[in-house]
Amino acid sequence: MSQSPKATRIIQPSRGLVGSVELPPDKSIAHRAALFSALADGTSHIVGFPEAEDPQSTLACLRQLGIRIEDTDTGLAIHGKGLHGLKASDTPLDCGNSGTTMRLLSGILAGQPFSSTLVGDASLSVRPMGRITDPLRLMNAEIDSTEGHAPLHIRAAYPLKAMEYPLPVASAQVKSCVLLAGLFAKGTTTIIEDIPSRDHTERMLGLSSFTVGSAKHISIDGDFSILPRMWSIPADFSAAAFFLVAGCILPDTALHLPRVGLNPSRTGLLDVLRAMGADIQIRNERVVSGETLADLDVRTSALNGLEVKGDIVANIIDEIPILCVAAALAEGTTHIKDATELRHKETDRIRAMVDGLSALGVQVTEQEDGLEITGGTSLSGGDVSSFGDHRIAMSMAIAGLAASEPVRIEGSQAASISYPGFWDTLERLR
Ligand code: S3P
Repeated sequence: MSQSPKATRIIQPSRGLVGSVELPPDKSIAHRAALFSALADGTSHIVGFPEAEDPQSTLACLRQLGIRIEDTDTGLAIHGKGLHGLKASDTPLDCGNSGTTMRLLSGILAGQPFSSTLVGDASLSVRPMGRITDPLRLMNAEIDSTEGHAPLHIRAAYPLKAMEYPLPVASAQVKSCVLLAGLFAKGTTTIIEDIPSRDHTERMLGLSSFTVGSAKHISIDGDFSILPRMWSIPADFSAAAFFLVAGCILPDTALHLPRVGLNPSRTGLLDVLRAMGADIQIRNERVVSGETLADLDVRTSALNGLEVKGDIVANIIDEIPILCVAAALAEGTTHIKDATELRHKETDRIRAMVDGLSALGVQVTEQEDGLEITGGTSLSGGDVSSFGDHRIAMSMAIAGLAASEPVRIEGSQAASISYPGFWDTLERLR
């Protein structure tokens, strides 16, 4: 592989990958560990905080809000100031490319006695924010956006009004935003979730929840106190996903993935890949900081296409781009439905995967809510783009390893949003 100044990477076909994969710490858990530590009264320690750009955006915003964060031998020490200790920032809070930073932080800032402005990069500035400003306004927050997009201007409003909110979209970011705003509301705020989304917020805060029919009710009381603690962050399942698929589709491959977070609200891809015929072994399952983790082993497997739709889509939403690559190499047709949310990610991921796989000669049809991929033919080389999206860059890299000729990926630097070591790891495993 080589990298030009424009960050175009050329991926050469691979004859197989072997070894142990170095994975980054989980991005979703890291954002939350940092935010919750800032709101705790006292010092929390985070073991293994990611160097990836998105979680670093959360740290930068917290520093601007007056939180002291120190590097330690094992990770970070965050000196929390309690629920009411944040300070106004003189300058806008830059969330970079990170939707999780902007949406979760908005929940916290909506209930502060000071005003804030949140900005993001070009991609984040066109992602939908009405999904958080609508419920926050129902809680009496005062927020201006530009036609539902960032920048977000949040004016002082404390306390907020507690509410019961049925989630109109399966989104852990919206759920978490409203629950965090609930910390600054009088009374109990309850989220009603019909389709399960990742549950790190409720799990990490130890919130109470119960089920009514098929809906989960999750509640938080205003002034709920967050205790300082030690967080240990498992390896990111969504990063592991690239190597789980590489392990299946490349010849003569055997990969070991240590300490991978296996929170059941995140691991639907394991079930899908196994249903396609993947040889994946789970070993040494244990619970650390309330999250299950285990070591995974994957080896070359013959995959078959299948239909993916319904509630599992929210669980595998970040893994669908790499699942498309698995589908392109599987025998038969894979049909992914009910996945319109993919159009609201860092780029329109349905369009991006149709574009990228077509450029490599795959027969793929774009649909409003997903894609249909006919697998089983070999991938050609070609020119593709990351569209500035980390998961597209890494998915196309794995496709490139399985192609018969080199694949050039424009905008490959996007991988460092979630996985700065990705390219070095790939090179080492060859
Ligand atoms: C995330 C939730 C998901 C996911 C994102 C991280 C989180 O987004 O796609 O990468 O940490 O809460 P949505 O809540 O928009 O589905």
